[in-house]
Amino acid sequence: MTDSPLSVPPQRIPLHVAIIMDGNGRWALQRGLPRLAGHKAGTENLRRVIRSTVEFGIPYLTIYAFSTENWGRPTEEVQGLMRILEDVIDRELNELHKEGVQLRHIGRLERLAPRLQQKVLEAVELTKNNQRLVLNIAFNYGGRDEIVQAVQKIIRDGVPAEDVTDERIGQYLYTAGVPDPDLIIRTSGELRVSNFLIWQAAYSEWYITPTFWPDFDKNEYRRALETFAQRDRRYGGVSDVVADKAGQ
Ligand code: FPP
Repeated sequence: MTDSPLSVPPQRIPLHVAIIMDGNGRWALQRGLPRLAGHKAGTENLRRVIRSTVEFGIPYLTIYAFSTENWGRPTEEVQGLMRILEDVIDRELNELHKEGVQLRHIGRLERLAPRLQQKVLEAVELTKNNQRLVLNIAFNYGGRDEIVQAVQKIIRDGVPAEDVTDERIGQYLYTAGVPDPDLIIRTSGELRVSNFLIWQAAYSEWYITPTFWPDFDKNEYRRALETFAQRDRRYGGVSDVVADKAGQ
């Protein structure tokens, strides 16, 4: 099957797409498989989505792989997700590096096994000069935790209260230097933010689909981008059309 082209003008392609990859468990349950089989299928899909992201010319992608709340899942599942991260680094790093993907980690590394921490740091170091796609992996990430850490660091640095601005806080987040997400995709139909990029998402557009993550394919990704391109982003103001009329 040939791909239909993306019918979005270049200026309407988002700079930064963020994804809550939800529904792996239900995907597996529907097939009578263990939850980890869903996460493995989700990992396969992630590989395809990364490729499509590069193809669509999107320069920043953030994926929510493990939240600070996910520690509450059964040990076997938590260990399985840790193993998946390790496998992804072991098996995919060279290919990602070759493709010009810059890997970044957002979240707390401390609670991960020392060997895994080391692998993550090495992957980040190896790919730090790549320019084609910045891929932020949110692993042991929580939005509130990120803000708490930022505030603590601001205080430790002795920043005067009047200098604590919107911009300054942004510089203390894990995502410093990364533009806020333009589009956040959440699969599996849940209507929740789930502690994901809660500061950065202030003006993001959302695309929520009932599709489970392992089934979120390139056609649906294309649909998400086409829907985004139709949105009238007003950032709390009024649309250009309304503003033009008001000015007449
Ligand atoms: C949510 O689905 C998914 C996760 C908590 C894990 C997402 C992980 C991957 C797709 C693997 C890629 C990982 C790395 C490290 C690159 P869920 O389990 O909550 O699904 P459910 O709501 O149907 O139970």
